[in-house]
Amino acid sequence: MKTTRLGDPAPPKASPAARGQSRSQKGIKSIAVMTGGGDCPGLNAVIRAVTKTAINKFGLEVWGIEDGFLGLIEDRMHMLSYNEVSNILTVGGTILGSSNTANPSAYKIKVGKKVKTSDVSAQCIKALKNRNIDALICIGGDGTMTSAARFAKNGLTVMGVPKTIDNDLYGTDITFGFNTAVTTATEAIDKVHTTASSHHRVMIVEVMGRYAGWIALHSGVASGADIILIPEIPYQRDKICESVLSRSRRGKRFSIVVVAEGAKEKGGEIVISKKLKYSPDPVRLGGIANVLVEQINECAGLDCRAVILGHIQRGGTPTPFDRVLATNFGHMALELLMKGVKGHLVVLRGGELSSIPLSQVAGKIKTIPKNHHLIKAALAVGTSFGV
Ligand code: F6P
Repeated sequence: MKTTRLGDPAPPKASPAARGQSRSQKGIKSIAVMTGGGDCPGLNAVIRAVTKTAINKFGLEVWGIEDGFLGLIEDRMHMLSYNEVSNILTVGGTILGSSNTANPSAYKIKVGKKVKTSDVSAQCIKALKNRNIDALICIGGDGTMTSAARFAKNGLTVMGVPKTIDNDLYGTDITFGFNTAVTTATEAIDKVHTTASSHHRVMIVEVMGRYAGWIALHSGVASGADIILIPEIPYQRDKICESVLSRSRRGKRFSIVVVAEGAKEKGGEIVISKKLKYSPDPVRLGGIANVLVEQINECAGLDCRAVILGHIQRGGTPTPFDRVLATNFGHMALELLMKGVKGHLVVLRGGELSSIPLSQVAGKIKTIPKNHHLIKAALAVGTSFGV
């Protein structure tokens, strides 16, 4: 069923040549776009780039699926007008809404007191076919791409766009949203320096990132943190204490520790803040900063405070870098689709935009290699990794 919005001026028409090329060559006349997983600065910039490119350059019809895969499962989508995607480049979040609790191949529903899990992928494909939608653009992280890969395997024309503040998506050097999160985290860490130095304290700032330390490593280096703790390098508490005490002996009576939410002590456990019943990825990390307060206080005898940045890292307007990256990704997704590429993820590798099969990405994450150049640089300027 097609819908139009009253009051919207007609969108600019694509040139007949562009139209003819897209329609006759690849048969794509209508696409849908969705944003899956946690929100992230730059999502709207991708929606804008995808929709404007589709309308302007290829004369396509564009549908916006509401609330990620949940909206696809529940058949909630509307046609996107040119006006709806205007003025959203700088706006954080997603105008389409998102969800990180719905996995079409293992959808959990409450039946009485029980939770039933069923595969509703065929129902999703039918919802798209009923509206004559030829291709689906999935903007998301590893969970979304794993589902997108399954849809591609089932014959749907799919193109992925890499999103996440965590920068942990396999196959691309960088995801949009990461630069904004690092900028926000760095500004916050810069601010706690004053309290740390005035009160001679150890300030421990916990950043997000799940099982990868990209946000911690980059914001830690950018803010000149004394200690950076990441999941890839399990820490030893005596080494952290040695480091803060040696600073005290040198007259630096404060220290800044940046810790990734997924960091853990050598031989210890990752700190879980909660487990979500209906989520395909139920574990939520968080709270390691509070553990470190006790550990450092005990072994170094210094006054310690924890600051957990949390979702502030996902908020706000995207940085210019992320706006540019998101626009490039969104445009590239359309160009590739119209050239007949399908079942791929748009990636940035070595500064070049390209794409790789979603099957290579599904079920994997990208962590920091222990010999990463930024770890070497941080060590060279005296940063400790707690080992
Ligand atoms: O993947 C993005 C992210 O913000 C992670 O860094 C964090 O662990 C998780 O999402 C938090 O998820 P939620 O918004 O469900 O609490």
